Amino acid sequence: MSPTASTQVVERGLQDIVAVESHITFIDGQGGRLLYEGYDIRDLAEQSTFEEVAYLLWYGRLPTATQLDDLRQRLVGLRPLPEPLARLIDSLPTDSNPMDVLRTAVSALAMLERAETQPGPSSIGGALRLTAALPSMIGRFQRRRVGLAPLKERPDLNNAENLLYQITGREGSEAENRALDVALILHADHELNASTFAARVTASTLSDLYSAVTSAIGTLKGPLHGGANERAVELLAEIGEVSRVEEVVTAKLARHERVMGFGHRVYKVEDPRATILRAWLHRVGESAGNLHSYELLERMKEVVHREKGLYPNVDLYSGSVYALLGVPKDLFTPIFAASRVAGWAAHVLEEYQDLRLIRPSALYVGPTDLRYVPIAERGS
Ligand code: COA
Repeated sequence: MSPTASTQVVERGLQDIVAVESHITFIDGQGGRLLYEGYDIRDLAEQSTFEEVAYLLWYGRLPTATQLDDLRQRLVGLRPLPEPLARLIDSLPTDSNPMDVLRTAVSALAMLERAETQPGPSSIGGALRLTAALPSMIGRFQRRRVGLAPLKERPDLNNAENLLYQITGREGSEAENRALDVALILHADHELNASTFAARVTASTLSDLYSAVTSAIGTLKGPLHGGANERAVELLAEIGEVSRVEEVVTAKLARHERVMGFGHRVYKVEDPRATILRAWLHRVGESAGNLHSYELLERMKEVVHREKGLYPNVDLYSGSVYALLGVPKDLFTPIFAASRVAGWAAHVLEEYQDLRLIRPSALYVGPTDLRYVPIAERGS
C-alpha cells in the first residue's frame, strides 16, 4: 500500500490527543478550572505556598506541618551551587539568553552530581535539588552580568522570597513576596503542556530527570510557550498609553499578528490563573502607586475580546507583575522554569511509575520510488 493512501489522520499539534493517564493536574477548559491533585488552584493560590504545592505535586497529597517544615529545610540546604558550576556560569557570555544559561547549568549539574541522575523513584532527590538550585542559577547569572558579586545564602527566606532576593538583591515587601509566591504556585504545573510533554518523552526512554528537565527548559524557551509574557510586556511598552491600545491592537490583528497573552489551546474561557494574577497585579501596582500596566491590560482585554473573542491567559499578567517587582524582562521565562520544574519532576516521577516509550507516528507524504543518482551524475 502506498503510504499516502493510509487512512491515518494527522492531528496537527497533537491537539485533543490523550497521550497519558495522569492524576497530577486537571484542566477544565470550558469551565475555566484548574486542579492540582484535586485541589482548586484558587484555594491553593489563596492559602498555600509554592513549597506546599511542590510537595503536593510530588507526593500526591498535602503535607503535614512537620513534612512541610522538613521539605523547606531540605530545599534551603540544597540551594548552594557546586563550585565548578558557579565557575561555569561565571564563564558564560554575559549577553547569553538566560534560558540557555539555565539549560546549560542543569545539564552541567547532572554531570557534577551523578548520584542524583538515576531514573526511578530516587529522582525525588533530583526534584528537590533542581527546585532549590534553579533560583541560585538564575541569581548567579543575573548578578554576574550586571557586574555584581554573588549574594550570600539567606536560609531565612522561603523559595519565592529567595528568588526575588537573588534576582534583585533586595528583600521584597510582603505584597511583592506573596505575589511572586502566588505566581510560582500558578505556574507549577499545567497538565501536558509542551515542555511537560517534552520532559515525559525524555523520561519515557528511561532517561534521567536532569535530561528531562534540560529538554523541558529548551521547550519552554519558545515564544509560543514560556516566552509569551516577555512579548506581552514588550507590546505594553510599544503601546505606551491607554489611549493608544485600540489603535495598536486593532492594527496588529488586522495584520493577522498574534497578541501575546491571549488565547489558549485548552481554555475556551478566561484562564483562571489570569484572573488570580490580574488581582495581584492590581494589588502590587496599587501598593507601588503604579497602576499603569494594569490599566493598559484592562483596555487590551476589552479590545481583544471584542475583536477576536479571545480571553487573557496567565502570560498577559505574569510579565507585568514581574516587571513591577523589578525583574528584568529576559528573566520572566527562567522564573517560569523555576516554578514549572516542580511539575516537570512530578510528571517524570509519574512516567517512571507506569513507563511506556512515547513514540508516535508520522504520516509519510514524500515520494516512495526515487532512483538513487550517484553524486557524480547530479550536475553542479
Ligand atoms: N492573537 C491573535 N489571534 C489569535 C491569538 C492571539 N493571541 N490566539 C489565537 N488566535 C487566533 C488565530 O490566529 C486563529 O485565527 P484564525 O482561525 O482566523 O486563523 C485562531 O485564533 C485559532 O488559533 P490557533 O493557533 O489555531 O489556536 P491554538 O489552540 O493553537 O493557540 C496559542 C494556542 C496559545 C498558541 C495561541 O492562542 C497563541 O499563539 N497565543 C499567543 C501566545 C501566548 O499567549 N502563549 C501563552 C499560552 S499560555
